[in-house]
Amino acid sequence: MREVITINNLSYTYPDGTRALENINMKVYEGEKIGIAGPNGAGKTTLLLHFNGILNGSKGEVKIFGKKIKDKKREEIIKDVGVVFQDPDDQLFMPTVFDDVAFGPINLGLNKKEVRERVKEALSKLGLSGYEERCSHHLSFGEKKRVSLATVISMKSRILVLDEPTANLDPGSRMELIKVIKSLNKEEKVTIIIATHDVNALPELVDRIYVLKKTIIGEGTPYQVFSNFDLLNKANLDVPEIFKLFKILRCFGYNCEKLPLSMQEAVEQLTKTIRTRGGHIHLHIHEHTHTIGTKLKIYEHHE
Ligand SMILES: Nc1ncnc2c1ncn2[C@@H]1O[C@H](COP(=O)(O)OP(=O)(O)OP(=O)(O)O)[C@@H](O)[C@H]1O
Ligand SMILES: [Mg+2]
Repeated sequence: MREVITINNLSYTYPDGTRALENINMKVYEGEKIGIAGPNGAGKTTLLLHFNGILNGSKGEVKIFGKKIKDKKREEIIKDVGVVFQDPDDQLFMPTVFDDVAFGPINLGLNKKEVRERVKEALSKLGLSGYEERCSHHLSFGEKKRVSLATVISMKSRILVLDEPTANLDPGSRMELIKVIKSLNKEEKVTIIIATHDVNALPELVDRIYVLKKTIIGEGTPYQVFSNFDLLNKANLDVPEIFKLFKILRCFGYNCEKLPLSMQEAVEQLTKTIRTRGGHIHLHIHEHTHTIGTKLKIYEHHE
């Protein structure tokens, strides 16, 4: 599979001397969905800003489609990589939503008709049809987040980088956004990189997770990462709610080989159990249930 992003020994220090990234090594392959997880201040945003050359690494190299980003022209980078910033106010700067979403396509040199089509399509995908003439800066935070994604979708970049895309969205908008991201990956083969604290969204959104704390402290599938409690503790990460629930059910005697991480996996797991156990699920309280419960670090703070 083709490498779309390659990062070798990347370290970055901000001008004030803050060392934000240390010796990062990463490879992202075409069509993958990658999560970047880690505590506040771990360097997630700093890392993402290297993917389209906004920040230039003080040490090490970043390659996009095998070519050093330092050797790529600005237009080439913008075509390859779209970045949705953590703060939508960093993304939106034109008078209207239309102008903001049209900005990228205009810069790609598309004609007026193509630009209008790109804007229409991007806004419609995010449930923002009719927002064209609204002033971006008067929108609510959640609306701004969706417009920010529209400004990048309209560029049709091969790689989409999202910094905390689901933060502060209402549950409906969050679900819609997850659907849009998944469909961009599935239907249009866009490679996705997401930095997020939304552990409930990670299992269904990504194939692999890099755990970052200034440097990469762990890497694996969502299942590998969420089963590694040492790693989760180091990174201040929690596990998905569904995983906790099934861990509790396991303490009550529910026998499942692999704890589900998403609602879909939970339904599959339950269906399998019902089929193989003649339609019954047996739960029981035994002497050790509570002790086991208190020993489960993952829900200690819920007790
Ligand atoms: N412009 C800057 N100048 C100096 N230090 C900075 C700057 N931006 C970020 N930092 C510092 O770099 C480190 C990494 O910050 P970064 O924003 O990349 O973290 P993050 O993982 O995205 O955090 P969060 O989860 O809060 O978004 C932090 O210690 C932060 O204080
Ligand atoms: Mg950040």
